[in-house]
Amino acid sequence: MHVSIRPDAAAATKEVVIQIAALVANRANVVLGLATGGTMEPVYDGLIAAHRAGLSFAGTTTFNLDEYVGLGAGHPNAYRSYMQARFFDHVDIDPTRIHLPDGHDADPAAAALRYEALIARHGPIDLQLLGLGRNGHIAFNEPTSSLGSRTRVKLLMPGTRAANSRFFDHPDQTPRLSITMGIATILEARKVLLLALGADKAEPVAQMVEGPISALCPGTALQMHPATRVVLDMAAGTGLIHAEYYRAVEESGL
Ligand code: GLP
Repeated sequence: MHVSIRPDAAAATKEVVIQIAALVANRANVVLGLATGGTMEPVYDGLIAAHRAGLSFAGTTTFNLDEYVGLGAGHPNAYRSYMQARFFDHVDIDPTRIHLPDGHDADPAAAALRYEALIARHGPIDLQLLGLGRNGHIAFNEPTSSLGSRTRVKLLMPGTRAANSRFFDHPDQTPRLSITMGIATILEARKVLLLALGADKAEPVAQMVEGPISALCPGTALQMHPATRVVLDMAAGTGLIHAEYYRAVEESGL
């Protein structure tokens, strides 16, 4: 795991934008895995700015990590709506190349299986963008998710619902169910780029990078991925025992 600690959130975000933009600029038909959440909002702002400066997403295929189950089509808090409003509507991406799990299918388990098959058909994902939940979840793989899990329906933990309720008018509107890529699905991406910001991510970041691999902290599964880069601001890196070593590795250029 390559750990980059930047002075502040803006510098960490810029780093992630540069990585994604460089991949899209230099390779045809890139397959991007995309993430949602508050952390990612400035990342999409940065990618839109890159598009306005000439970067084209016309040949890019995208797969989002997850989607709420049960929000109606077009609901403003559906991750599909988030992605349209914050990114897709502002760039030249081909709508037929955009993929999210179908959270309003009457049979969400079947929708999850279809999504896994779709990723297998178009994949592997070249670069998977990830955030980190306060309880160490990646996508909606909550603690105790199987490290071998595939795309499926997951029940959200109360703490995750509470954290995400800030985006809803009333906390009880926050869905209980999601369709999420599994941990094994995520690990098949060629590269993983995880962005975590702020003091409330310091503990899950320390667990993910330096803790034992455990389903209790799903982010620790990334320790088994051969090309994961974790980008942090100073606040999110405060729990790391070996921060000086990670800085030395970066300075060494390895
Ligand atoms: C949600 C998403 C995750 C995301 C997490 C952190 O639960 N399903 O993919 O990483 O929130 O979000 P935030 O960036 O708002 O802290």
